[in-house]
Amino acid sequence: MRMVDLIEKKRDGKELTSEEIQFIIEGYTNNTIPDYQMSALTMAIYFQGMNERERADLTMAMVHSGDTIDLSAIEGVKVDKHSTGGVGDTTTLVLGPLVAALGVPVAKMSGRGLGHTGGTIDKLEAVKGFHVEIENDEFIRLVNENKLAVIGQSGNLTPADKKLYALRDVTGTVNSIPLIASSIMSKKIAAGADAICLDVKTGAGAFMKTIEDSRELAKAMVNIGNNVGRKTMAVISDMSQPLGYAIGNALEVKEAIDTLRGEGPDDLTELCLTLGSHMVYLAGKATTLEEAREKLLEVISNGKALESFKTFLQSQGGDPEVVDNPSKLPQAKYTFDLPSLEDGYISEIIADEIGTAAMMLGAGRATKESIIDLAVGIVLHKKIGDEVKKGESLLTIYSNQEEIEDVKQKLYDNIIMSKQKVTAPILIHEEIG
Ligand code: URA
Ligand code: CA
Repeated sequence: MRMVDLIEKKRDGKELTSEEIQFIIEGYTNNTIPDYQMSALTMAIYFQGMNERERADLTMAMVHSGDTIDLSAIEGVKVDKHSTGGVGDTTTLVLGPLVAALGVPVAKMSGRGLGHTGGTIDKLEAVKGFHVEIENDEFIRLVNENKLAVIGQSGNLTPADKKLYALRDVTGTVNSIPLIASSIMSKKIAAGADAICLDVKTGAGAFMKTIEDSRELAKAMVNIGNNVGRKTMAVISDMSQPLGYAIGNALEVKEAIDTLRGEGPDDLTELCLTLGSHMVYLAGKATTLEEAREKLLEVISNGKALESFKTFLQSQGGDPEVVDNPSKLPQAKYTFDLPSLEDGYISEIIADEIGTAAMMLGAGRATKESIIDLAVGIVLHKKIGDEVKKGESLLTIYSNQEEIEDVKQKLYDNIIMSKQKVTAPILIHEEIG
């Protein structure tokens, strides 16, 4: 087989066979296919697309390009949740303990990464003593015992995706539905998921800005999952404004605790109940989505969800007392309220810019070397549609620096007011699969 023939085939809009896709991914992973040929192929895919079978083959070829995690020693259906990324997205911290309280095994492999705030692991490390450096056997044992454990990324998972994503990043080919969908799904499958629950964000703060693009990506991923034997569903949820109120690491841990207690923000609570219902249903712990939701509400009101969070923290060295006493989480030196400059209604809270403001305070990493300040961040007091009086606090800033005029200005610039009434955005647009 010659790579040049395969590039021409795709360029001309023809279908690549399973063997051809396998050849391409193997060759690219072991460096026998050079970047220049691979970039020509990704550009051809960008313009010509891939059919369902090609997408499934590409996904599985990337899964098999490196190690895969074997979770078969864990009893039950391992359901993984994935979010395409947003601002102040605290759902993983809530969903883990919430569904674990109903016996759904959550074996989470998580990362740090770049962004407005830290990843799930960074957030959890705001709890004193908590760590993810555990051996594989210990990880499996903890999931069997407590139904929930988090481990850092280990092994050589989907090296083909790593290489390909970096190449796409510099060749104008990130934004291709077949390539994005296979990239995300390959990572979930390599990490051992039996079933996958996707949260595809839509709006200003999301990777996909329009509902049409979000729907297309969601459907592409659901089809891939189901075509390769993993029950998969997707929710399309709003990311025009940050989710919940808190944006920051320790602040989001506190928000997760509030939510597990039944006292969290409405949007975060509703999204967790929706995603959680699907996870419980996919895991076979309820026969309908309605039954799953009732069970979730029950473990919130009887305290079992909170108890599950405590057990989880303690089992990985964390101080479980933060749950009853969140003041034990890292605290910022200064707090500043941002008063509204006028009367009106909130019409926009531009999510990615608010996230950048949190990063300027130190809540997230701008580069891999940056050190996160777990205590800092932003807590909103108003969301889109809320009425505000002049002088009323829009949000509180938690900072370890005193001089933060640039952050305040950025926040003012990205909270847009209207004199007219504004309706709140729809939180859950669609459920697919
Ligand atoms: N996220 C991924 O993991 N892969 C993509 O291709 C795009 C976003
Ligand atoms: Ca939040």
